[in-house]
Amino acid sequence: MVNHRHPLLTRHEILYRFSLGERKEVEYVLGFSSFMKSMSATAIIKHSLHNNKMSNRLIEFETNIWTVEGPTVSFFGFPYPTRMVVIRLVERDEPCAWIWSPIELSDDLAEEVKTKAGPVKYIVSPNKFHHFFLKEWADRYPKAEVFAPPGLENRRVAQGTRFTSRFGVGEPAPDFANEIDHVIIKGSYVLQEVEFYHKPSKTIIINDLIQRHTENLEGWKGWLMKMDGLAGEEGSTPRDWRFTFWWPCGKAKLRVARDVMFGWNAEKMIIAHGLCVDTGASDIIRQALSWI
Ligand SMILES: [Fe+2]
Repeated sequence: MVNHRHPLLTRHEILYRFSLGERKEVEYVLGFSSFMKSMSATAIIKHSLHNNKMSNRLIEFETNIWTVEGPTVSFFGFPYPTRMVVIRLVERDEPCAWIWSPIELSDDLAEEVKTKAGPVKYIVSPNKFHHFFLKEWADRYPKAEVFAPPGLENRRVAQGTRFTSRFGVGEPAPDFANEIDHVIIKGSYVLQEVEFYHKPSKTIIINDLIQRHTENLEGWKGWLMKMDGLAGEEGSTPRDWRFTFWWPCGKAKLRVARDVMFGWNAEKMIIAHGLCVDTGASDIIRQALSWI
């Protein structure tokens, strides 16, 4: 297997790990780096330390793309860190903000989104489990388009959420399609989800299909997550979800979406849970989805 590990943590990863309170790990890795690179990274860390709270702050991933780390939530007893993506859409008369998988909304976060990315015009949920703060955002931005993924609108947890648009067969192409492409992962009898591709930066945004957890991998829960193929650079798709594609035509439908993602030939990858990638994403995606 190709080792995609960089000798130095990327700038984005440093900021992300600080947001999770992993200062010791960052310092350990930096201890093996070249002096100059360490100096550069140390400057970033010092900058980070001046921010009392890294969580709920926009972390620049690429030009016009930021991630925001939310709190770790429990999913059937397993710790899942949450992550939001903010994209500034610029190929239009009035630039605006596109929000993916929103985390808890605060006044500070709203102000930072407005300052860096512009007014919120689109709010997107990638699958029916990433719904926690949709209503909060939809209510705060009544003029924004709120997109439902397949299966969410029928759930009790989504009752009262103001959906204006949806992803699915026969639905019109979103008017952000000139900058952000999407494909729906079909073929599972349990869960469909929507993956996105930001064309200007060649960044793919994957929700739960690829998970690369790095935190809280101790003990029996950590062992289970490793056995489930969700740990770090070896991370992939949860095995219980893989199993739900094993029915007539399930894998065939999945391969259609997989080939669309391969065709994007992404250079960078943002995922909801775990390590993001800022170079060589296409190879990593092919490896992670080699089970299909
Ligand atoms: Fe998730």
